[in-house]
Amino acid sequence: MPATIQEIDTYAKQWIKEAGERIRTSFPKTLNITTKSNPNDLVTNIDQEIERFFIEKINERFPEHKILGEEGYGDSIEKLSGIVWIIDPIDGTMNFIHQQRNFAISVGIYENGTGKIGLIYDVVHDELYHVVKGEGVTMNGEKLPRLEERGVSESIVAMNAMWVIENRRLPRELLAPLVRDVRGTRSYGSAAMEMVYVASGRIDAYITPRLSPWDFAAGIIMIEELGGVATNLRGEPLDLLKENSVFVAKPGLHEEILRKYLKDGKW
Ligand code: IPD
Ligand code: CA
Ligand code: CA
Ligand code: CA
Repeated sequence: MPATIQEIDTYAKQWIKEAGERIRTSFPKTLNITTKSNPNDLVTNIDQEIERFFIEKINERFPEHKILGEEGYGDSIEKLSGIVWIIDPIDGTMNFIHQQRNFAISVGIYENGTGKIGLIYDVVHDELYHVVKGEGVTMNGEKLPRLEERGVSESIVAMNAMWVIENRRLPRELLAPLVRDVRGTRSYGSAAMEMVYVASGRIDAYITPRLSPWDFAAGIIMIEELGGVATNLRGEPLDLLKENSVFVAKPGLHEEILRKYLKDGKW
């Protein structure tokens, strides 16, 4: 008999906590740092070890499940049928290396393309954000309230400063007026953390020109569960099998930014 969502969830919570403990014990040790696509695209032995840790656990307990992981030890996935775990072993690797904070483990679990379980673990603060679709979002067991509407002028919006560079995916002539009109902007360097900050109301929106599925798979389940909206910059649904621009926000605010600043995606 296939495992229930509750069973999968119990293991996922246990494994993410165990993975967090492994990351914490790595702090005093010397990291092995290498680069991937460019000199600032960093990866460490810990990113790789944590991804392999999840894969071993999942393969052993749930051999029929598929795994999509950033570091490439999982399966090559062409469709989202069955149960698929989408894993970022360390989201915010640059912060992990330079700051030993502002990073998280992100695990999204999808069934036939629908997000069922999301876990984002802020290892340093020992804060586990968790959602089971339809059952609400919690932080260390405490329920998070639904997101309430808020206007642009009272909002804090997370965005990476790269927007000042000419970028076809995120034209600066669209973003400059938004930056002018919002209460404040922030940039934390971890998409998963930025997602849980939207879910927990610490910030009101997050806009970014390019993310991979493992950066947002868990976070969007939480935001949508709380009544927030997750799309690309044109207001279209996100595709979990490729890179996307990502725009998540409180209800109302998402519609206002899309209409007034992103011109309903007509650019
Ligand atoms: C990165 C972080 C960062 C975002 C990048 C991601 P990584 O993930 O989420 O905030 O701007 O696009 O690649 O590589 O640290 O897992
Ligand atoms: Ca990376
Ligand atoms: Ca990431
Ligand atoms: Ca990563």
